[in-house]
Amino acid sequence: MRILTILAWLVLLPAPILAAGDGHHHEGDEHMAGMMAVKDTIPEEYRIMDRTPVTPTSASLKRGAELFRTNCTVCHGEKGRGDGPAAAGMKNKPANFHDQAHSRIYSPGEKYWIIGHGTKQTGMPAFGERLAPLQRWDLVNFIVQLPKEGTDDLFN
Ligand code: HEC
Repeated sequence: MRILTILAWLVLLPAPILAAGDGHHHEGDEHMAGMMAVKDTIPEEYRIMDRTPVTPTSASLKRGAELFRTNCTVCHGEKGRGDGPAAAGMKNKPANFHDQAHSRIYSPGEKYWIIGHGTKQTGMPAFGERLAPLQRWDLVNFIVQLPKEGTDDLFN
């Protein structure tokens, strides 16, 4: 009888553990799993923000472009395609903001939070102490604008 109980435990115990890990693997690769893990750590008030509280005027976009050039291009690339000089040596590649299927996983509010806090799971550094809230929103405005046509002049 005792042996049956032990056998039952051996079979049943790993079940919830396996089930818990399962959700991530359905998403696809490890990169995606990391992104979803980041999402779980972002407070609700940022998760639901589908636009920035700073109007994306051309002034905001210009400021964002300038901040992007000085702080972000080393990893995310000059045009935000995730191909900056530091990207080559990174295991988890910096985001390509032109890849909509990928970048849309995070709402504007989530992007703002990520820029401020960084992400342990995917290796994005935190800029909360270096950049003021307005600067971080300018950056989000700029990033979400990137895949649209006619944004090249922002880089000049
Ligand atoms: C040291 C390299 C590095 C630097 C510098 C860097 N990032 Fe990242 N960033 C990453 C990596 C790696 C990821 C994780 C990949 C992902 O989420 O697809 C990431 C992810 C992100 C994301 C979430 C992904 C998405 O598509 O929304 C945002 C937003 C972002 N970075 C913005 C910025 C901004 C803005 C700057 C400059 C202020 C910056 N990053 C500087 C490496 C970097």
